[in-house]
Amino acid sequence: MALTNNPMAEPYKIKMVEPVKITTKEYREKVAKEAGYNTFLLRSEDVYIDLLTDSGTNAMSEYQWAGMMLGDEAYAGSKNYYFLENAMYECFGYKHLVPTHQGRGAENLVSQTLIKPGQYVPGNMYFTTTRAHQELQGGNFVDVIVDAAHDPYNTDPFKGNVDLQKFEDLIKKVGAENIAYITVGVTVNLAGGQPVSMANLKATGELARKHGIKVILDATRAMENAYYIKVRENGYENKSVKEILKEMCSHTDGATCSGKKDFHTNIGGFAACNDDEMALKMRNMVVLYEGLQTYGGMAGRDMEAMARGMLESCQDHVMAHRIAQSEYLGNKLIAAGIPIVLPIGGHGVFIDALKFYPHIPQEQYTAQSLANDLYVHAGVRSVERGTVSAGRNKDTGEEIRPKLETVRLAIPRRVYTQSHFDVVAEAVIDLYKNRDQARGLKMVYEPKYLRFFQARFEKL
Ligand code: F0G
Repeated sequence: MALTNNPMAEPYKIKMVEPVKITTKEYREKVAKEAGYNTFLLRSEDVYIDLLTDSGTNAMSEYQWAGMMLGDEAYAGSKNYYFLENAMYECFGYKHLVPTHQGRGAENLVSQTLIKPGQYVPGNMYFTTTRAHQELQGGNFVDVIVDAAHDPYNTDPFKGNVDLQKFEDLIKKVGAENIAYITVGVTVNLAGGQPVSMANLKATGELARKHGIKVILDATRAMENAYYIKVRENGYENKSVKEILKEMCSHTDGATCSGKKDFHTNIGGFAACNDDEMALKMRNMVVLYEGLQTYGGMAGRDMEAMARGMLESCQDHVMAHRIAQSEYLGNKLIAAGIPIVLPIGGHGVFIDALKFYPHIPQEQYTAQSLANDLYVHAGVRSVERGTVSAGRNKDTGEEIRPKLETVRLAIPRRVYTQSHFDVVAEAVIDLYKNRDQARGLKMVYEPKYLRFFQARFEKL
């Protein structure tokens, strides 16, 4: 049920506020340099509007905060775990739940359980932590997303779809026995938050099952994906986000999930599956890496907050508001002629850095430069999703140059207001007017794993 005709109108009111600091441009120039021109290395208190990520940065509801006082902090068998198990079943429908401290903990468990060294792991575009865990287990990631996903201006409504031909070609080429599983991300983060259609999920599931290959959903933003199916795919307009989500999961065998996104929580995650043996293996492994199988690295209170958040956010009007915020910001930028990835994504707006700064080549980290300039200009923190995030080819060691060299303006849930988005849009537009002055970067420190988090740069 829509609360008003304007989904951008907040379906909540604000009970507690967190003051933010306004700094000078000179100050931001100094701290950006000290942070090695990496927005991950800035101090949060030096940021005015923080669009680094929508992960763990969301505002919880009073119902979630109240749940925090009901933490059952027993080492084993916490009642919050059983509540979480029921909530996960109600929303996602998987038989087994294995809690983890966050999404990558679940990725580690699934990768270790299912990948034999040398096997291939197809997926609809890589995600940084997911691919890193697959490669750590000796897996070879293969991108099987539709070509449209790599084109920022293709406006297909389901640009996250798996290219069934690419998937089938891989099966033919390497043999089904050499494919560990296929990961399907919903929505696809690095494609710009693009969704996967139900028809495509179903067809992917059918093709995989025909060959005995498991489908593992990256369910991190699956509720957003379900909302897109509701508003974009024929036949789903009268179904609820919750019903659609369950149907999506029914085409898969299991999932990894970061609880820090859709569920409005600050920490948490889970792995889930239907297969008893897979669950047994993951439950054995979780005690090594996360904690006992009934807490997996989370406090009881965090499990309670995550379960409550899951049930709350799986409502149509919550998702409608969520998507309306990113569309508001995206449409403002489009109106001003700023090149952004289309259609506007669910969890953020992605600026096409190569079009924004055409004079800075990818070797000079175009998107990294833009993310820094936006911070220095207006105190708005964003994140690079381009060459730095893509890292290196694991066999040749060469830098990967992704077709999408973007700066992501990620939108934390329920945190910022329309005026904040106006400030962000104004800042981006200003920067675009003065784009000729921008300079590229060179990397002076490169960590071995997930380099984007800690790499340092100097201005050219
Ligand atoms: N999968 C997707 C699609 C993600 O976006 C993330 C995290 C993860 C898995 C890993 O989950 O952080 O809980 O360990 N994405 C954040 C982001 C970090 O900024 O996009 P995690």
